[in-house]
Amino acid sequence: MLNESSQKFFIKTFGCQMNVYDSILISEKIKKLGYIETDNIKEADLILINTCAVRKLAEHKALSELGATKKLKEKNPKLLVGIIGCIAQKLGKKIISDFPFVDFVLGTKEMYKIPFYLQKLENSDISSGSHNILKLSLDEKIEGYKTEHVNSVSAFITIVRGCNNFCTYCIVPFVRGREESRSSKEILEEINAMASNRVKEIVLLGQNVNIFGKDNNESLEDLLYKINNINGIERIRYFTSHPKDVTENFIKNVKDIKKVCEHIHIPFQSGSNKILKSMNRKYTREEYIEKIHMIRKYIPNISITTDIIVGFSGETEKDFNETLDLLETCKIDSIYSFKYSPREGTISYKNFADDVLIIEKERRLKVLNDLANQISLECNNKYISTIQEVLWESISENNNSFIYEGRTRSYKKVFLTLNNKEIKLGEISKVKIIGASVFSLYGEIVKGV
Ligand code: SAH
Ligand code: SF4
Ligand code: F3S
Repeated sequence: MLNESSQKFFIKTFGCQMNVYDSILISEKIKKLGYIETDNIKEADLILINTCAVRKLAEHKALSELGATKKLKEKNPKLLVGIIGCIAQKLGKKIISDFPFVDFVLGTKEMYKIPFYLQKLENSDISSGSHNILKLSLDEKIEGYKTEHVNSVSAFITIVRGCNNFCTYCIVPFVRGREESRSSKEILEEINAMASNRVKEIVLLGQNVNIFGKDNNESLEDLLYKINNINGIERIRYFTSHPKDVTENFIKNVKDIKKVCEHIHIPFQSGSNKILKSMNRKYTREEYIEKIHMIRKYIPNISITTDIIVGFSGETEKDFNETLDLLETCKIDSIYSFKYSPREGTISYKNFADDVLIIEKERRLKVLNDLANQISLECNNKYISTIQEVLWESISENNNSFIYEGRTRSYKKVFLTLNNKEIKLGEISKVKIIGASVFSLYGEIVKGV
């Protein structure tokens, strides 16, 4: 019986923050059936793999994880194994033919109904081998699914699902379907519950978060104002912002919302107009630079992070140098960088050759990261001697001292070492920055404030 408390589930999550949020949501639903979560895959009665299809490596990792469950199933024929999310959506039937032992494959919209499918499996004869469930419909709107028990210091919450942009390299619009904003009523209820569970920071998520509300007459600005009024919530973040959808009006409106933090994640992907066009990004490098100027005009101390792809189809040395130049010109605080990985089903996979050699992609990635690190260090050095508000998110112990880890409002990681546990996680302290490296800042508590 599923409601026996001895049943345990293990969930492995690949991919973006939205997957992390989905896994939390789904885990809560499974717990309601009586399952207990375990981090030991060997003792699980149910194994779930929440997958990402954005690059080949992500796909490969998820499928090897699935392959490894075969042995566990041989030992325990009652074990249920399910694959959910973006790879499930992308490969569907192929997963069942390649891994016939899998019990269920649920796509990016069907996965929320997991309790229903688990009960169906409970009533079927697993050992017959013909029971597997494959559900991939993208038609329905996702409504009425909220987390209830999140109590981390910082919490993700997806507010827009799907994407309509069809950047030519990207699989997301195909596996996640069209853009769909959740209702702000539902989001606010969820955030209120988080606030009463001691969550201090809300991170609003969407592949293209600035278009929130376009399809249901709401807006990201209004939502931010409303969250700002929730007692207990101290900080609000939102990502990812597509450059074309960050308007001057939006920045003017949000700059004075107290709890909205001074950070924007605004991917430029490439600095070459030729490549931006073939990526279907819908802006030029000049427009991107202008946007960054506009943002900094209203919020001078904002930190800016970005995503960049190297080695896209047709990218020459000149195009790549333009990417380096854009990074330098915009003084981006930190980057997430990727080698172009052609994804079956995307527009670039069909229409363009993957013509940059892997060794050259690797070289460009290294050159890019070296420059990015140098700029990050310059940006971080500017924090030295400043006083920052730091929200403490985790603590570890090392040789009788305690290392606290937190973030500034501008999303910089800060470390602080103390010889006692005088700070509680979830508190915000004033910290003087006394050191900086490429990836973090080091601080000391400012006394008497
Ligand atoms: N919606 C966000 C991010 C989507 S996926 C945006 O528009 O920016 C996260 C990042 O993965 C992308 O920004 C892009 O840099 C990278 N990415 C997406 N598809 C890729 C591919 N086929 N190969 C390499 N990197 C890719
Ligand atoms: Fe992919 Fe582009 Fe949509 Fe981002 S905006 S998810 S890169 S299609
Ligand atoms: Fe990956 Fe799907 Fe997110 S493809 S990046 S997990 S939306």
